[in-house]
Amino acid sequence: MKKITLLKGDGIGPEISESVLKIIDAQGVKIDWDEQLAGQKAIDKYGVTLPENTLNSVINNQIALKAPVTTPIGKGFRSVNVELRKKLNLYANLRCCYNIPAIKTRFDNVDIVVVRENTEDLYAGIERQPDENSAESIKIITKDASLRISEFAFNYAVENNRKEVCVVTKANICKLSDGLFLNCAREVAKNYPQTKFREILVDNCCMQLVQKPEQFDVLLLPNLYGDIVSDLTAGLIGGLGVAQGVNIGKDCRIYEPVHGAAPDIAGQNKANPTALLLSAIEMLKYIGMKNDAESIKNALYKTLNEGILTGDLGGKYTCSEFTDCVIKNL
Ligand code: NAI
Repeated sequence: MKKITLLKGDGIGPEISESVLKIIDAQGVKIDWDEQLAGQKAIDKYGVTLPENTLNSVINNQIALKAPVTTPIGKGFRSVNVELRKKLNLYANLRCCYNIPAIKTRFDNVDIVVVRENTEDLYAGIERQPDENSAESIKIITKDASLRISEFAFNYAVENNRKEVCVVTKANICKLSDGLFLNCAREVAKNYPQTKFREILVDNCCMQLVQKPEQFDVLLLPNLYGDIVSDLTAGLIGGLGVAQGVNIGKDCRIYEPVHGAAPDIAGQNKANPTALLLSAIEMLKYIGMKNDAESIKNALYKTLNEGILTGDLGGKYTCSEFTDCVIKNL
């Protein structure tokens, strides 16, 4: 039986995790879930945010399903997500963003893949406060990491019949850091003559995305712009409740939704489990359970088509009612 690390996370994490586990179980997929802790719950039990047990579990199983983990804002411990990605060298964050037919949005032709560099940029977390009236944060961009993520984006494009890779930077202002990222993308692009290559500044990219999203195919971005732009692209297809993702390294992968712990609706049975479910569906495909993945996706789409929607999509169904309907439709 396949062993997979499970991180149920914080906020709405436990609710949506239960939903996804129930659906996978109802499909008859047998998985040996290796549940581990991270974040505040790990501090409470082990005194650290990312215990060795958790890291070793992902390293050994090479695959994890993860719900969001809270990071205190403006104070407190450093992000567990950033630490996980750095320690496991999960250098690529892939967020496929496409219309789901039953979810009506302003656009019906979105099919964008966001490839986000996942290990450096301002997420290096190197900050200092020279005095109480100023603060500095260092943006790290390296040639190795920029070449590696560019190659990932172009390989992804070739393997998935994508026509274009568009690199997104602010190289007019951050001439050295974003300039290096851009130059690496240009260098890699030369080795992929079959794939169109385009360059755009991040501010213009955001404007174009909310006007004509259909023009974009694969977007290649440094860490921070990738984080922000992938929330924007989630908004194009119905919001964070339906946006899936995966962190990819050489040796392991962590499947997780784009959204966070949603403290405003946590514990109220209101969360939409779709984003985590779609991430889990991609995970099942990756481990070779394509038929099960397909049948869960069909049940999910059928449920949404029947108008069974959670509050974030304008519906009135709770997380558990939605889950039961997906199971009925399997
Ligand atoms: P958020 O993504 O948690 O929430 C933003 C808005 O979207 C909220 O109104 C929330 O209710 C809604 N939302 C998100 N997911 C939803 C779902 N599945 N169903 C229905 N509505 C949903 O972003 P926010 O509030 O900025 O962050 C909250 C916490 O989550 C912070 O501590 C942050 O650090 C953490 N976070 C963790 C991530 C991770 O573990 N990968 C990613 C992003 C944020």
